[in-house]
Amino acid sequence: MEAVERKELEELLSSVDLFKAREYFSEFEKLMAYYRCAIMEIETKFNVLNEEYSLLLDRNPINSIKSRLKRPMSMKEKLERRGIPLSVDSVEKNLNDVAGIRVICSFTEDVYTIAEAFLKQDDITLLEIKDYIANPKPNGYRSLHLIVTVPIFLAKEKRMMKVEIQLRTIAMDFWASLEHQLRYKKDIDFTSEMEAELLECAEIASELDKRMNKLRMKAI
Ligand code: GTP
Ligand code: MG
Repeated sequence: MEAVERKELEELLSSVDLFKAREYFSEFEKLMAYYRCAIMEIETKFNVLNEEYSLLLDRNPINSIKSRLKRPMSMKEKLERRGIPLSVDSVEKNLNDVAGIRVICSFTEDVYTIAEAFLKQDDITLLEIKDYIANPKPNGYRSLHLIVTVPIFLAKEKRMMKVEIQLRTIAMDFWASLEHQLRYKKDIDFTSEMEAELLECAEIASELDKRMNKLRMKAI
């Protein structure tokens, strides 16, 4: 290494407080562990509801549950996009979707039955609700979105954690998953014909939900 380069590198390294960086990293890891605990709490609640309702209805109202922790890079991008400073505190304060849970139900009615039973629980606080089933997005997207807080019980404290929950039917999930894949394909620009085609697909999916519901009513 050239003498000049080495000097620059030494200067750079001495300006980074490694101790601080390690401390910062461990704070972040701790927060992520709390979010994982919150996901476990919420998943259990939905599994319990599914158990109970499957006895009551003689079928499963919940088809599957998926969860994810937002990737650090997406957190950074979202905060930067909004011009919010990057810090562990600001992740917790400003992002509602660090912990995300998707509850995929059999029928549209199940979405509302499950959401209502969940929101009635006395440790759940609803912060925000968006009903994109009653009011679909202009592109055709349908789902019921909830932002809630749930307590997690640690050794020495109780901590309230924010979680984003998306409830939707299998048909809504089919559409949303494929639309997401198409939208984020790097080399494809969405033309207005494609937008219109996707909107039509969303309407077909919604029609499918309605027809399945009619069959369900007949089967009762
Ligand atoms: P962000 O989108 O998270 O910045 O916040 P927002 O206030 O716009 O939230 P919204 O409730 O509209 O959407 C939150 C999440 O729902 C997104 O991150 C997606 O996972 C999902 N979502 C919303 N709109 C669409 C859509 O048009 N297509 C698909 N596939 N998913 C969507
Ligand atoms: Mg959005």
